[in-house]
Amino acid sequence: MDKLLITGGNRLNGEIAVSGAKNAALPILCASLLTPGTIALENVPALKDIDTTVRLLSRMGVQINRNGDHATTLDASQVHSLEAPYDLVKTMRASILVLGPLLTRFGQARVSLPGGCAIGQRPVDQHIKGLAALGAEISIEHGFVVAKAKRLKGAVIRTDMVTVTGTENLMMAATLADGQTILENAAREPEITDLAELLIKMGARIQGHGTDRIAIDGVESLHSAEHTIVADRIEAGTFLCAVGATGGEIVLRKAAPETMGATIDKLLEAGMRIECGTDWIRGSMTGRPKAVGFRTYEYPSFPTDMQAQVMALNTIAHGTAVIVENIFENRYMHVQELGRMGAKIDIDGHTAVVTGVPALSGATVMATDLRASASLVIAGLAARGETTVERIYHLDRGYERMEHKLRSVGANIQRITRETA
Ligand code: EPU
Repeated sequence: MDKLLITGGNRLNGEIAVSGAKNAALPILCASLLTPGTIALENVPALKDIDTTVRLLSRMGVQINRNGDHATTLDASQVHSLEAPYDLVKTMRASILVLGPLLTRFGQARVSLPGGCAIGQRPVDQHIKGLAALGAEISIEHGFVVAKAKRLKGAVIRTDMVTVTGTENLMMAATLADGQTILENAAREPEITDLAELLIKMGARIQGHGTDRIAIDGVESLHSAEHTIVADRIEAGTFLCAVGATGGEIVLRKAAPETMGATIDKLLEAGMRIECGTDWIRGSMTGRPKAVGFRTYEYPSFPTDMQAQVMALNTIAHGTAVIVENIFENRYMHVQELGRMGAKIDIDGHTAVVTGVPALSGATVMATDLRASASLVIAGLAARGETTVERIYHLDRGYERMEHKLRSVGANIQRITRETA
């Protein structure tokens, strides 16, 4: 398995281009199932999770052309399988996003239940409840969600909690339903807005995306469209945390700062200087950060996907920070590993108390999820000595060529591949 070898202590200086957002690209690729037309996408990030989705859609019969440089076209005019098998779903929970599109266009779908994952239980009951409210007949058979409906029928759906992929699945399903669907308590994440914008280009009638009440008027069919995926706010935030931890100055190009308010506010509070244009961010840091407490909530509040990275910054800050993780029950797996590098963190349920230390010391560490891995990279960049981050396949799921990007701004980081290990 590949590892990253980091020698800490280098300040970061230079420019990085931000990639397209993983969590926008995943539902958008699945949205291609809604039409026999062609979906032409730009700014698709080169990630493991994108490869998995491409494999899943290809198995269903979607013709996919990846035209190098982040362009991808998808043609779902010849779909021959309406099933998402366990071997792919178990590696990527977002595979559940094919359920709504398959069901609404083809009248049936069979999608493996994802099961638990490292950061928590993560059930999909709200996806199922919502589709049932749209008139689908749903059963769980041999570990699969089996859904059937002649044509879905618009309804008012209020999910029990705010769910990002749940909102996306139901919004996609409702585009081809008979009549109007109202999604109440909808997620407002920028990735949902990006998906809605693509669906509208495909001919869907959607209003209210970006708010907690989305109205979708079903249409008979959707058509070809072109779309550029929004910038990844979590990748951009991760690089800002890295420069916050090491000191220096970086400019992020192709960024979407308007989607990053809560993260930028926290980093300003930590003592960073941040300047933004429409599609760029300049972040700089001198000296040690100040400890910053926060609670994770749904967008536009502070994102759970940035919790681990800002925690890494707090480990070397002046003062003590209290962090509360409200979205997932088990998203502190980086804490023990950060502890191996000398961080002082106490956990009590959903709360973490981080007391900053003057410096971390490099160590061999390992993480079990994507954002936890990113926090260990940040810690390694700031630590004294060498850090080895093991199991970086997690990182490859959600960060495009992270070590190349960091090296281009002066980090001492290299990938040790299985062959050279
Ligand atoms: N939940 C349920 N039932 C459901 C759906 C969700 O109980 O049917 C619970 C979850 O267990 C969780 C909460 O509701 O406690 C919110 O989960 P949500 O459904 O919003 O999460 P998700 O859609 O599975 C997406 C991102 C995650 C991100 C979360 C929260 C994608 C592909 N994934 O997951 O991204 O953390 O929203 O913002 O969009 C990541 O990129 O590292 C990542 C994990």
